[in-house]
Amino acid sequence: EAIEKGGYDHFMLKEIFEQPRSIADSMRGRVNSEEGTLQLGGLSDYMDKLAEAKRIIIVGCGTSWHAGLVAEYVFEELARIPVEVEYASEFRYRNPIINPDDFVIAISQSGETADTLAAIQLAKSKGATIFGVCNVVGSSIARETHAGAYTHAGPEIGVASTKAFTAQVTVLTQMAIAIAHKRGSITEELYQQLLLDLSAIPQKVGQVLKAADRIKEIAYIFTYARNFIYLGRGLNFPVALEGALKLKEISYIHAEGYPAAEMKHGPIALIDEDMPVVFIATKDSSYEKIVSNIQEVKARKGRVIAIVTEGDELIPNMVDFVIEVPETHDILIPLLSSIPLQLLSYYVAVMRGRNVDQPRNLAKSVTVE
Ligand code: G6P
Repeated sequence: EAIEKGGYDHFMLKEIFEQPRSIADSMRGRVNSEEGTLQLGGLSDYMDKLAEAKRIIIVGCGTSWHAGLVAEYVFEELARIPVEVEYASEFRYRNPIINPDDFVIAISQSGETADTLAAIQLAKSKGATIFGVCNVVGSSIARETHAGAYTHAGPEIGVASTKAFTAQVTVLTQMAIAIAHKRGSITEELYQQLLLDLSAIPQKVGQVLKAADRIKEIAYIFTYARNFIYLGRGLNFPVALEGALKLKEISYIHAEGYPAAEMKHGPIALIDEDMPVVFIATKDSSYEKIVSNIQEVKARKGRVIAIVTEGDELIPNMVDFVIEVPETHDILIPLLSSIPLQLLSYYVAVMRGRNVDQPRNLAKSVTVE
């Protein structure tokens, strides 16, 4: 097992550090930024139909559902197709309205999650076209779908999903870019720029990982926190949900993710000097709004850890701790901003002596309801 962990203490840490490679693998043979092309072989027969799509429904569970929330923003922004994201378990039991011209995307690392499988069987029986975004080749969900794109992240052993999440987001982003290009909803110039920016992501993830020691120091300070709040806006809202999920899964600390603007409708009542608040506050279209959300928390003496864009000169002066991520196109930010949150939860859990790779009560793949 020590050999399988490749010198890392846990599979989770190994998988976090594999992300420059796993993200590159999820683009291999697909994105060619030099030639300016993007091909998703599995979907090529459906591209004409997708260009006319009226609605996309995304289903998944856990971390895969969070990848779906990121995809909702990306698809709507680039391809201008309305997207609904559903927990597979809710979708399957509420007599959902599914039309034969709907496209359903099932996201699943294992490809075996019972609720997700049942959800696509239901959608299929109503005539929808089903795509899979799975990591495990030949898995039940991959076989049940009409077509799809594998994430190619390699085996993920740690129960808490890390590299599978970023690979899912990478694949879904490629789908959105390809469909947007086909529909003509993005300019050729933006298309080319997105391909270049996507290709630069693996190297930028490598840069984020260099902050591991600093994140470890921050984790040490908050080891005994009883609660955490994670706040983000726009594309960083699902990142906040995923950061909170990672922390609760492996450290057993209660954590909530919220859209930062919703804080004033509830969570703000929890803020005092004992409440760590993680802001995902990169420089994007909601930057100024999130700066004022940070001020609201600091005014109530909350302790703030902020994920910021490299070179940010404002937020570091307002908060207790900052972790920088490189600049990228707005829609790609989750691929960078989610990484420090994985490391933060990992180090907190290790310092609390938790079984990081196999947290209590959780299974890697939930094949029963
Ligand atoms: C379990 C795992 C999670 C995962 C979820 C969905 O709860 O512990 O890490 O996100 O199932 O799994 P899937 O294989 O469908 O992505």
